[in-house]
Amino acid sequence: MSNIREQELITVRNGRDVSFFDLYSIDQLTLTDIETIYDIARKFREHKTFKFSLNKGCSQVNVFFENSTRTQASFDLAAKNLSMDTVSVGSSSSVGKGENYLDTVQTLDAYNVKTLVIRSKEAGVAEVLSRHVKASILNAGDWWHEHPTQALLDGLTMLDYFKSKNLKGKTITIVGDILHSRVFWSLVRLCKKLGATVRVASPETFLPVHAEKFGMEIYDNVEDAIKDADVVYALRVQEERGSNGFIPSLREYSKMFGISRARLDLAKPDAILMHPGPVIRDIDVHSALSAVDSQSHILQQVENGLAVRKTLLWLLSHRYDGQEKTFTRK
Ligand code: CP
Repeated sequence: MSNIREQELITVRNGRDVSFFDLYSIDQLTLTDIETIYDIARKFREHKTFKFSLNKGCSQVNVFFENSTRTQASFDLAAKNLSMDTVSVGSSSSVGKGENYLDTVQTLDAYNVKTLVIRSKEAGVAEVLSRHVKASILNAGDWWHEHPTQALLDGLTMLDYFKSKNLKGKTITIVGDILHSRVFWSLVRLCKKLGATVRVASPETFLPVHAEKFGMEIYDNVEDAIKDADVVYALRVQEERGSNGFIPSLREYSKMFGISRARLDLAKPDAILMHPGPVIRDIDVHSALSAVDSQSHILQQVENGLAVRKTLLWLLSHRYDGQEKTFTRK
């Protein structure tokens, strides 16, 4: 017999499922999927201190081959909060002895885990692996490619702030290292699905070739891009991916593109500041605009990440109750 809080979640879910077994790209999501995820995530957020037994008996492996604080901690906390057993493997796994990702992940799948959360140093790994394992694969970031759960938590943060079901009529200005950012590529897909106008401001060397074909407005002047925006979203310069070689210096970048008080003041008076973290202070965002600034929603993003990830783990773990994922063995 589920307790009252679990019953509330079941009521909000109202028998709804999502249309996917694995999540590796925002392109997979329908608007109905997004609405389902957000309705349930809001309820989880309401009961943030409560431990649920919804996924009792299920287990999860977090496979992280790149550094992470937020994504790894929140996927692990989300699973534990749903009463799942979790284990983490990463750089110290047998991949270091030459085992390939597929053999590693098929080995973990043989433990009959429900969910495998993967952060890889190569693009497309989560999608390819999802065709070869029974567990649901969740992409926790694949190189420069996508970070879908980050975009989902960002979308929830924006929609709740605007008290809206979509982003029609809203201007989202994204500033920074577009080229090397998987956060960007998931975020722009989600913002476009939700109807936003997306502006981008970045040094030309941080822009992919033919960027204009992605349906964004491109600015080389950050002040023009921020003017009258509803959201200013700063990205980190990805030093670990060699980004420093694309700009004269971090100091120059900070001067030209870093989000300062004066720059944020060019946006609408009720605009919000967002950043996926980790923030490199005084490079992407000036210290005066810390996480606790009234316009900053950075910690709200972190909190929403836990709620969104709990939702996905609950929905994906229980899709097996009625249907088997079809997959191709090697
Ligand atoms: N936003 C994000 O992915 O942060 P972590 O690298 O700390 O997980």
